[in-house]
Amino acid sequence: MRSHQVRLNCGITMPLLGLALLPSKMIGRQQNLLPIWHSRNLGMEYLDMYLVHWPVKLKPWVHWSQQFLSTKIVRLLDFASVPPAVNQVEMHPMWRQAKLRGVCADHKIHVSAYSPLGGPGNSWGTTAVVESPIIKSIALKHQATPAQVALKWGLSKEASVIVKSFNQNRLKENMEALDIKLDHQDLVDIDKLEERKIMRGEVYVNETTSPYKTIEDLWDDEI
Ligand SMILES: NC(=O)c1ccc[n+]([C@@H]2O[C@H](COP(=O)([O-])OP(=O)(O)OC[C@H]3O[C@@H](n4cnc5c(N)ncnc54)[C@H](OP(=O)(O)O)[C@@H]3O)[C@@H](O)[C@H]2O)c1
Repeated sequence: MRSHQVRLNCGITMPLLGLALLPSKMIGRQQNLLPIWHSRNLGMEYLDMYLVHWPVKLKPWVHWSQQFLSTKIVRLLDFASVPPAVNQVEMHPMWRQAKLRGVCADHKIHVSAYSPLGGPGNSWGTTAVVESPIIKSIALKHQATPAQVALKWGLSKEASVIVKSFNQNRLKENMEALDIKLDHQDLVDIDKLEERKIMRGEVYVNETTSPYKTIEDLWDDEI
């Protein structure tokens, strides 16, 4: 498999096309290229989803992302005749994405929350969410676990929550988050939590080669 290709679960290999793979004058037409490529080469009528990862250009090839914040979403919608259906971003009780959720709702873009627990077991993640005293006290009140509270909070904001676990008991626990009911006061208390973005993408920011000179540029001043 060449470096510009990806293998789908069904076994088919296809090229990775990112917006920044193309000269900027072609970007507006990029959305037409994928369907053309599919019909000729994949023998498929459509793909369920094409995830564009991180809105930055890397050498020798590109990575664009679903991490579009408000300004980038609006800019993308300016030229996209096929608007994005889903925006997958970091979202949990300590990185609530209130502004972005509003923009996405206005444009009927579904928000999907990655690291919905704050990635507590990951080297780059944090236990701050599942160990937050506020989250713990809400969990106690509902005879739930902190993880269930965090997941139900994400669902209450009409996001899908992409939680990851390799542990059977925790998989079950996470599914049972659907059964708990958070009340208005719980949501108010969660809204008062300190905001803390985990995945900041500092590697994509520099003064010379990156279009993003500061971390605020990369995240549209929403960090
Ligand atoms: N689009 C992007 O840029 C992007 C970025 C990051 C992540 N993601 C995706 O988002 C998904 C989840 O992200 P994530 O792994 O970063 O964060 P996460 O789901 O918030 O955290 C996963 C960690 O939490 C632990 N965990 C799971 N359930 C738990 C529970 N009930 N109580 C306590 N700990 C629990 C897991 O350990 P155990 O396995 O031991 O349970 C694992 O270490 C992944 O599929 C990932 O690919 C996407």
